[in-house]
Amino acid sequence: MCGIIGIVGKEAVSDRLVDGLKRMEYRGYDSAGVCTVHDGQLVRRRAEGKLANLVQVLKSDDAPGNIGIAHTRWATHGAPTTSNAHPHATQEVALVHNGIIENFKQLRDELTARGRTFESETDTEVVAHLVSEQVEAGHSPADAVKTVLPRLRGAFALAIAFRQFPDFLIGARLGSPLVVGYGDGETYLGSDALALAPLTQQIAYLEEGDWVVIAREGAQIFDKDNNPVEREITTSGVSAASIEKGNYRHYMQKEIFEQPTVVAQTLSSYIRPLEQTVALPQMDFDLAGVKRITIVACGTSYYAGMVAKYWFETFARVPVDIDVASEFRYRDPVLEEGGLALFISQSGETADTLAALRHCKEHGQTIAVVVNVPTSSMAREADLLLPTHAGPEIGVASTKAFTCQLAVLAALAAHLALVKGKLSAEQEREIVRHLIEAPAALNAALAHDEDIAAMAHLIAPARDVLYLGRGPDYPLAMEGALKLKEISYIHAEGYASGEMKHGPIALIDEAVPVIVLAPSGPLFEKTVSNMQEVRARGGKVVLISDAEGIEEAGEGCLATIEMPSVHPLIAPLVYAVPVQLLAYHVACAKGTDVDQPRNLAKSVTVE
Ligand code: M6R
Repeated sequence: MCGIIGIVGKEAVSDRLVDGLKRMEYRGYDSAGVCTVHDGQLVRRRAEGKLANLVQVLKSDDAPGNIGIAHTRWATHGAPTTSNAHPHATQEVALVHNGIIENFKQLRDELTARGRTFESETDTEVVAHLVSEQVEAGHSPADAVKTVLPRLRGAFALAIAFRQFPDFLIGARLGSPLVVGYGDGETYLGSDALALAPLTQQIAYLEEGDWVVIAREGAQIFDKDNNPVEREITTSGVSAASIEKGNYRHYMQKEIFEQPTVVAQTLSSYIRPLEQTVALPQMDFDLAGVKRITIVACGTSYYAGMVAKYWFETFARVPVDIDVASEFRYRDPVLEEGGLALFISQSGETADTLAALRHCKEHGQTIAVVVNVPTSSMAREADLLLPTHAGPEIGVASTKAFTCQLAVLAALAAHLALVKGKLSAEQEREIVRHLIEAPAALNAALAHDEDIAAMAHLIAPARDVLYLGRGPDYPLAMEGALKLKEISYIHAEGYASGEMKHGPIALIDEAVPVIVLAPSGPLFEKTVSNMQEVRARGGKVVLISDAEGIEEAGEGCLATIEMPSVHPLIAPLVYAVPVQLLAYHVACAKGTDVDQPRNLAKSVTVE
């Protein structure tokens, strides 16, 4: 949700700032802007819409200077116009912000009463004025920031430039991520290590409440009480190459096709293939003593959690509560002392999930986190960190992170079942054998890419699409619907197939394609009965099943998509592929912006 970057450099920064924004555009693409400090002036260039528009502006009107800040925006307060684009500036100060200043209205009224005028509708601009007031009154930039930060409520990562001080920038964070990058005679600020990947791999992660002064020779970090502190400098594993599109047309397509590799990579950290056992990281709590699990996540990660609920309950017989993070705290959940709370997130920065995590921590829960960014806030606040190794996921629609989450969750469920005595060693070996088959099965599913591309035109004209599944395929139906709506803008819903007859079946007519996920197995016949209820009412069905299922129930369907025959445990991983590919090809057929769909952002760091 918004990406920010700052460079105190030895040479011109404008191109490098834009390059950093390019790698953060997945965080938002409503507008972009840069501001450099040059010849005693703040040189600001902004443009609404995609970064390409800012690049055009800079072509005709460059921003010279060796120090600067930049921003790519996901709009919260104020429309995505140029005047609302960051950096926001006064005569003395320019700043970029990721987060929301919740008390901005009160601050704005106060500033207006003191005669300050505003040029945007944003919450951010008040911060520029508050800092500016202090500087204009003769305080040093550091003192100005020190005075203003305690006045801000909400979440922020800030990078601030000062007209009269061309040698340093000030950054601050609370609730939104901010890193410091250390280069050769240069220092950087960024929303994440990805933004700084070509500049440096030497990264320090600021902690909640930290603020920092960065200069060419390094950074001075202060904690929330203004005490100087050291934050460990780590070498980031993110390389610039890992975020290239390669020969693929879209990041999403590349990420779908990476799944066999990254799932194998992830599994290799959680299983011992020779012994055929699960290997989890060391934990300093009694997993066998866990009596209840609370799973909290958002979007696709939530659907991974829904699949995991089946596994935890079936294998380990441990009851699971699952909530979308945005609702979790507000229902005042009953959290018994000693419970395990499990958070699932690609980014590890999703504000709703992070707030739920902190709520659970305050209420005595042990915190387990399945996360793709090992340096994220969630990862750092976990008691048990279970990283996925999907690599950077750039496409806004989550794909490879999902299947990697499922791989980790299956291993965790099996291990929990083992330590609880619900699974024998032989049964554990059997589960591990099935998990080992997953990468090959994903490859076999991907082999149907062309068939799926060829049938996308059947779905592309639809206004509404329904997805049906039963058991662990029900969350997959919801995931399929989410993928389709977010990148093709077709209204889609996922239902438990047995629930159709309780209402949604009224929607069925020839214009509403129904995608049925039904691997053969114990639930197959029941799902097929629900599918026939749809067909009896003129519904057009696309059946996704294996050869056996298609042989049995494929006749008369609008289309069928054949998946390899797999064990039910890995079916959710495998069936993720056709729903991802279907959404992808429908979006391509419709010509929408696959990697940067409208109104969305990759990392949702506001509540
Ligand atoms: O980074 P997270 O996994 O916490 O993100 C959660 C959701 O915002 C995310 O899954 C979102 O729904 C994706 N756009 C789905 O494709």
